[in-house]
Amino acid sequence: MASPAQTRKHADDADNRIAAGLLAWYDANHRELPWRMPPRELASGARPDPYRVWLSEIMLQQTTVEAVKPYFRAFVEKWPDVAALAAAETEDVMKAWAGLGYYSRARNLKACAEMVAALPGSRFPESEKGLRDLPGIGPYTAAAIASIAFNLPAAVVDGNVERVVTRLFSIATPLPEAKPEIRTHVERMLVASRPGDFAQAMMDLGATICTPRRPRCMLCPLREDCSAIANGDPEFYPVKPPKAEKPMRRGAAFVAVAPDGSVLLRKRPGKGLLGGMTEVPTTGWTARTDGATGEGSAPFPAAWQRKGTITHVFTHFSLELDVFRAEIDRNVATDGQFWSAPDELNGEALPTVMKKVIEAAIPGATKRGR
Ligand code: ADE
Repeated sequence: MASPAQTRKHADDADNRIAAGLLAWYDANHRELPWRMPPRELASGARPDPYRVWLSEIMLQQTTVEAVKPYFRAFVEKWPDVAALAAAETEDVMKAWAGLGYYSRARNLKACAEMVAALPGSRFPESEKGLRDLPGIGPYTAAAIASIAFNLPAAVVDGNVERVVTRLFSIATPLPEAKPEIRTHVERMLVASRPGDFAQAMMDLGATICTPRRPRCMLCPLREDCSAIANGDPEFYPVKPPKAEKPMRRGAAFVAVAPDGSVLLRKRPGKGLLGGMTEVPTTGWTARTDGATGEGSAPFPAAWQRKGTITHVFTHFSLELDVFRAEIDRNVATDGQFWSAPDELNGEALPTVMKKVIEAAIPGATKRGR
């Protein structure tokens, strides 16, 4: 039987082989992303811009790479560095963020930019600990920025990495209990000389080859070392706990349209769900189905016409909104409400749920000027 030292040596060899194989694959096959510094540029001595790394990581929290690309480009064009973003109007930042979802991220983004801009040289802290003290930066994001921007040996573990590692080592413990074991494997594998590339290589492998369904194992640079392939069922991993059903809430939304096509809007309170974003008047969103969500709950009397129902899924509940539309005079607006002209609507800080509502009432209204 192998001694403990021999077993460890064998594991170390495998870790090193996996890491080397992954980096070689990344050098040849990495995705070109607008925030990414490719390995050829790093090799010639260029350094990533921590502002771009930070901005992309905040945007990529809970949003896909494809959805983030145009937003990232628009942000860096408008606000090319952290001082520019710190000096921006919060309302403008919320407008530029509209559609990306999870709007507390935008508020934290602005708060974080202001804190960093107040540091010497407007420079981001160069440690995981220092980064974690900033608004909107949790353990994952701190590790990602530390490794990608500053080349520090931080273990970056997101959903992609969890999938790759549970498959590589056939870890059948369900998530989230498997997290410490996964982290230990990542810490062992990560390459001290290129931690940023290692982290991004893991992400790319998870996104393009080691996908949740029908992984493309034939193309995988790690197939020789993958225990799940050897066992015949990579899709079995990662093992997840059963999903809880999302509760359903209901309400009604009222799209009032003026003769010139303007739409009546109001601002949501600064705190809480969709805080500080813009909406049309709605009833409360409630789990009850007692009639408080119908036309009778309109903000003012008008010839309201039912235009259908939209659904939207938030993190903790699903929402069904009955959409009503009425043509009214511009003098109806009350305190806290304002009119948005047809060519301004697109620039308002409308969350996706509200874009769905307005589209149901006025098809094409939120797409003009795009
Ligand atoms: N997901 C989270 N961070 C990422 C990054 N830097 N590149 C690609 N996908 C990511």
